[in-house]
Amino acid sequence: MVKISMTVFPDSQSKSAQHFEQAKEILPMGGSRSLLHMDPYPLFAKSAEGCRITDMDGVERVDFVNNYTTLLLGHCHPAVVAAVQKQAAIGMCWALPDEAEYRLAALLCARVPSVEQVRFCNSGTEAVMTAIKAARAYTEKPKIAKIEGAYHGSYDYAEVSLASDPQNWGQGDPVSVAYSRGVPQGVLNDVVVLPHNKVEESRRILETHRDQLAGVLFDAIPAKIGCIPADPEYTAMLRDFTRDTDTVFILDEVLTFRAGFAGVQGAYDIDPDITTLGKVIGGGLPIGAIAGRKKFMEVFDQRRGTPGLAHTGTFNANPMSMVAGLAAMITLQREDFDRLNDLGQYARDTLAETFRIAGVEGQVTGDNSLFYIQLGEDEIIDYRSAYPAHSGERAEIIEQLYKHLLNQGSIIAPFGVGCLSTPMERPDIDRLAEGLLSGLRALTAGTLKVA
Ligand SMILES: Cc1ncc(COP(=O)(O)O)c(C=O)c1O
Repeated sequence: MVKISMTVFPDSQSKSAQHFEQAKEILPMGGSRSLLHMDPYPLFAKSAEGCRITDMDGVERVDFVNNYTTLLLGHCHPAVVAAVQKQAAIGMCWALPDEAEYRLAALLCARVPSVEQVRFCNSGTEAVMTAIKAARAYTEKPKIAKIEGAYHGSYDYAEVSLASDPQNWGQGDPVSVAYSRGVPQGVLNDVVVLPHNKVEESRRILETHRDQLAGVLFDAIPAKIGCIPADPEYTAMLRDFTRDTDTVFILDEVLTFRAGFAGVQGAYDIDPDITTLGKVIGGGLPIGAIAGRKKFMEVFDQRRGTPGLAHTGTFNANPMSMVAGLAAMITLQREDFDRLNDLGQYARDTLAETFRIAGVEGQVTGDNSLFYIQLGEDEIIDYRSAYPAHSGERAEIIEQLYKHLLNQGSIIAPFGVGCLSTPMERPDIDRLAEGLLSGLRALTAGTLKVA
């Protein structure tokens, strides 16, 4: 059992608080990732190893965030560290192709039947952006369909209706809602928004736009819809529609590739045209990939004269990310995914039982090695039914539980999501459940407020 130091968050005298004072002067919100912002300050990292992370004050906690689901092997896996150290000593980046790039691509092709060719980039956002452009290039059509509330990174087309809310989601079919100020109307016009898991409604909406559609962008376990697998009938409808119309079925596996040896498509028998990848396939270094059948990937081949899709980038397939990803993916074998997914079920069951013991209405949703701690027991089937669980007072309570857990030796995402890494064992989850139980008891006693 890991020894975890106890601490009190927040502490205005802590080193993290002091670092934040300096950072916020020169970085808007104190950092370059909006998601990491926390009131009154975020913890600043000092080091990490295995499933533990240590902050600037030397406090060690079990890390259930894993850089937002990236680190399936936990921090600093020896095979990944060795590969990165070796590569750093012989060349960090260069403008020549190298062996690691096609070896990582070959590994992906060997594992995933729908993957015949791969293009690398540096983030999931870029992978989604490029896949959308590839779909447009393949079909020579402008529109893309996506699910209301589904997160696919920070490309403005992919962000449409990411945060629609009862004020703007309308009475009938979902409308295209901008995620940031100043988004051009053209972006909204070219994104068709579908209601998740509603087969007939979505088919009708897709039919309305069929002449202008380039493809459908889909996450089979959308994080903002409880990390719950999509209804197979719904996925099948999207697959059939795209096949019938020769539009592109883009499966976003940036997050879900941790679901199994061949990703979520292997686990749920999905056959996409293009898959977007990121996170886990980089072993902890920045990465993204667009992967799919040759028929669709041919748009990247500019030797044919007319430009299908120009795709280049100074750091695409950079050797550091390639060797780190290769080392991680070679290390991760079928049995690792199986063990982690069993542990994920243990986590969901144990945390759900914790709500029952505390007598608080809540649910723990998720799949594979993901769990999502939510208040309320209403069934979640789409974005609109998921919405109440992560908005208003419930969202504030979940954030308080997150802060409480920091003081109990565990870190989850402030909105209640967590994921597992291979160094974790049941006692790590039991400890998280104990922390949650004390938090829920404080909630019922009216003493939860941490900061
Ligand atoms: C489903 C999905 N797509 C795309 C992205 C964007 O990836 P990145 O953060 O690497 O840009 C994410 C990130 O969490 C994601 O979960």
